[in-house]
Amino acid sequence: MTANIAIIGFGSITRTLLASLAGNGAVRVKNIVVRPERIGAPDHSWQDARFVSSIGELEADVDTVIEAAGHAALRQHAGDVVASGRRLVLASSGALADDAFRKGLEKTARETGAEIHVVSGAIGALDALATAQIAGRQAVHYTGIKPSRAWRGTPAEHCVDLDALEAPTTFFTGSAREVARLYPANANVAATVALAGPGFDATTVSLIADPDAALNRHVVEADGVLGSFRFETTATPLSINPRTSGTTVFSILSFLNSGSNSVRLV
Ligand SMILES: NC(=O)c1ccc[n+]([C@@H]2O[C@H](COP(=O)([O-])OP(=O)(O)OC[C@H]3O[C@@H](n4cnc5c(N)ncnc54)[C@H](O)[C@@H]3O)[C@@H](O)[C@H]2O)c1
Repeated sequence: MTANIAIIGFGSITRTLLASLAGNGAVRVKNIVVRPERIGAPDHSWQDARFVSSIGELEADVDTVIEAAGHAALRQHAGDVVASGRRLVLASSGALADDAFRKGLEKTARETGAEIHVVSGAIGALDALATAQIAGRQAVHYTGIKPSRAWRGTPAEHCVDLDALEAPTTFFTGSAREVARLYPANANVAATVALAGPGFDATTVSLIADPDAALNRHVVEADGVLGSFRFETTATPLSINPRTSGTTVFSILSFLNSGSNSVRLV
């Protein structure tokens, strides 16, 4: 079956995804949603996709909308996507730590028949988390380890002297909900773990600055009635954006190919 999709955002994820979709007959990109001032920009074109600035302008046969634009864009467009009954596939999961926003989307989706999927993004192990979550209580801990410089411009600067670190240093321990509040630009992985597992308050998080690290690392540890597991990823970033791991793009592609590899909220 062919999916007719729209993508919100025309940044690193979208451009890499489009390059990977070339020649894929099962996915047709009908629209790309960008900020109004970017419509008509010289580099804003891709095959016969029409660039628009609102969900109301999408082609009628678009059935799936991919969000790859950030928390503010998700807040701006997600309500319109689910109100239109389309399948929403999102990357900026940190925005869902706002319960009122998330529950509102879920309620609308139930009314319209829309689906909401959070792609696995930079990590894996969502299947194991979701399985254990059905079976009963589980303790889930996520550790995010990034090069010291990656934490510049965040509250980490008030916890440690990032330029003086000589060893990996934990500067934050708390819940996935607190990560979303304090470190919104780094909240997506913790949020995705929380959504697959025991939720934003019960999922605990450590954030570490490592002066010798070159790449981001993500560790998910879970212990529940079915047993325990530990899943560690070292993420190779996109060449065009050191903040985004390549896995994120290919988790979207994997979802488009198989309909799986996500946390489904509705
Ligand atoms: N779940 C994960 O593991 C994971 C991993 C990486 C990134 N992400 C999310 O994906 C987002 C996109 O990543 P990226 O690397 O492509 O970022 P990017 O900065 O390269 O691109 C974002 C694009 O979205 C556009 N945009 C911003 N606000 C918009 C709006 N309101 N409407 C339309 N377009 C808008 C920007 O102009 C830009 O072109 C990130 O902000 C992050 O929230 C999630």
